[in-house]
Amino acid sequence: MSTDLVIETHCDKLPLLFRGKVRDIYDLGDRLLLVATDRISAFDVVLPTPIPHKGVVLTQLSAFWFRRTSSIIRNHLISTDLQTFPSAAREYADQLAGRSMLVQKAHRLDVECVVRGYLAGSAWAEYRATGTVCGQALPAGLAWNERLPQPIFTPATKAASGHDQNISVDRMSDLIGQDLTRRIVEISLRIYRDAHSYALTRGLILADTKLEFGLVDGELMLIDELLTPDSSRYWDAELYEPGRDQPSFDKQFVRDWLESIAWNKEPPAPVIPPDVVERTSQKYRDAYRRLVGAPLPGSST
Ligand SMILES: Nc1ncnc2c1ncn2[C@@H]1O[C@H](COP(=O)(O)OP(=O)(O)OP(=O)(O)O)[C@@H](O)[C@H]1O
Ligand SMILES: [Mg+2]
Repeated sequence: MSTDLVIETHCDKLPLLFRGKVRDIYDLGDRLLLVATDRISAFDVVLPTPIPHKGVVLTQLSAFWFRRTSSIIRNHLISTDLQTFPSAAREYADQLAGRSMLVQKAHRLDVECVVRGYLAGSAWAEYRATGTVCGQALPAGLAWNERLPQPIFTPATKAASGHDQNISVDRMSDLIGQDLTRRIVEISLRIYRDAHSYALTRGLILADTKLEFGLVDGELMLIDELLTPDSSRYWDAELYEPGRDQPSFDKQFVRDWLESIAWNKEPPAPVIPPDVVERTSQKYRDAYRRLVGAPLPGSST
């Protein structure tokens, strides 16, 4: 099993492609090794304090959802089982086990495919100001965090640095083509609807989520992470009440703490206090346990 805390991997015999905010990515030719570390980012800045078990939660939840959605669309996942990895990678079991995925290398489409079923986060801010969300008009009189009449697709560009920028579906068509855009919108909405109803059976509301797509030999497939607390907003269905803040299973928790200390959102980010680290770690494990229905492998809680 993987060590509890991995801030940065050092698999010296494997070619490191790059370190993202959360993942270390190794290049294995036509495949990639995506390693989810325990790093946490908020407001696009990586915090100096890792969150125990977070990387394992992200990898195992993604794998769970990739299996569940495989009848809707193909995905990049080849294996999360270290025993099936190339032998050079198996040497680093202590760093990789539980937290890494062998995937097909894709030509990434540089669009963040966001589906929203509820009026949360930046969508609420825009709606309050203009009555629209990413330019799409919505009925008047909706409350903060209220469920939308139907889920909406609100793409954003994947900015190389800095914050992602919301774009219209027309703009997305200009960038990647009309046919791909139409298919991605349809698939994204199907995945959201399917995941939303499944999550409800486990007592969670999936308020919104971000998907990434890529092309492998011209074929469209789902890549990156899928329906994790980092890419999605999950709420407890029992505590849900529109019109007010929702306790959530995502980074909102760390974001709230950062807001409470009035950090200016410029690096370096402050060290997270131990109680916030522990509660956040527990939140990630809770999300896994509630969605999958079993405790996280290697964790008793
Ligand atoms: N199958 C794949 N082929 C190519 N790139 C992929 C694949 N799966 C994921 N990626 C990319 O690998 C990176 C994962 O690392 P991480 O999530 O840490 O990045 P990030 O900091 O979120 O960066 P970004 O803002 O680009 O998403 C992302 O840039 C993602 O787009
Ligand atoms: Mg990412």
